Amino acid sequence: MRKRSIFTACLVAFVFFLCSQALAGHGGHERPEKRGILLAAFGTTVSEARVALENVEEEVRKAFPDLPVRWAYTSHMVRRRLAGQGVEIDSLETALARMMDEGFTHVAVQSLHTIGGWEFHDLVRNARAFSGMAGGFDRLVVGGPLLNGREDIGRTAEVLLREQPDTRKPGEALVFMGHGTDHPADALYTALAVELRKRDPDAFLGTVEGSPGIEEIRGLLTEREVSRAYLVPFMAVAGDHARNDLAGEGEDSWKSVLSRAGVECVPVLRGTAELDPMVAIWVDHLRSAMKAW
Ligand code: CO
Repeated sequence: MRKRSIFTACLVAFVFFLCSQALAGHGGHERPEKRGILLAAFGTTVSEARVALENVEEEVRKAFPDLPVRWAYTSHMVRRRLAGQGVEIDSLETALARMMDEGFTHVAVQSLHTIGGWEFHDLVRNARAFSGMAGGFDRLVVGGPLLNGREDIGRTAEVLLREQPDTRKPGEALVFMGHGTDHPADALYTALAVELRKRDPDAFLGTVEGSPGIEEIRGLLTEREVSRAYLVPFMAVAGDHARNDLAGEGEDSWKSVLSRAGVECVPVLRGTAELDPMVAIWVDHLRSAMKAW
């Protein structure tokens, strides 16, 4: 008699176990919630420049101490070169697939782009492709780039001017180098240049691949009879463009072009992601993206 009731109890427990398993595997709504952050940067092969990305991770972990933080580099070329040095970094797609596989239900992707150009829009498109999969994420959100709204432009200008070299004397120029693009979002660089000059008539911003270019900047410096200029990257990371196109010894570098025009150049090799108040702007965009979680 006693044996039989133990058997019945075990059977009932087993049936309950089966039912609960079936529930967990059904529809994806009953699984435990698992939230995480994926930081996506272009990436860099310059190891000294990686401090900028490490700083972003540190600030993001401080802001969201309970959430795991993952990385993706969007540049295939950068990932391939790093792989050659034995450093494996995921692409956006690989990182998302991995998170999906690990049972993440809510993912916030934060772009470390400066503007919403081609690369940012590709990132949004591919990230969104992961949100409609059966058994995939319940919610996937993407935080905007640094210059994501009108107020970001003024805020960015303030940070750039506040964090300038303290050796700069009156009449010496600050020349910022943005990346630039043929995407319409390139106009944001002009908007930022205007905000900078409104606050400081000797602060200029140009771009490598968009507008305004270095010839225009050189013209403005000559007009103002500037004899000394600090050259500062306006990119998340002081990588290849900063070291070669801005501060390099090649004859087309900004340093060479301005030196030939009689301007003494002082390069400052620091990415914007090394500045905590700048990272705070990206973190704010991540926070507002999470409101849609
Ligand atoms: Co480039």
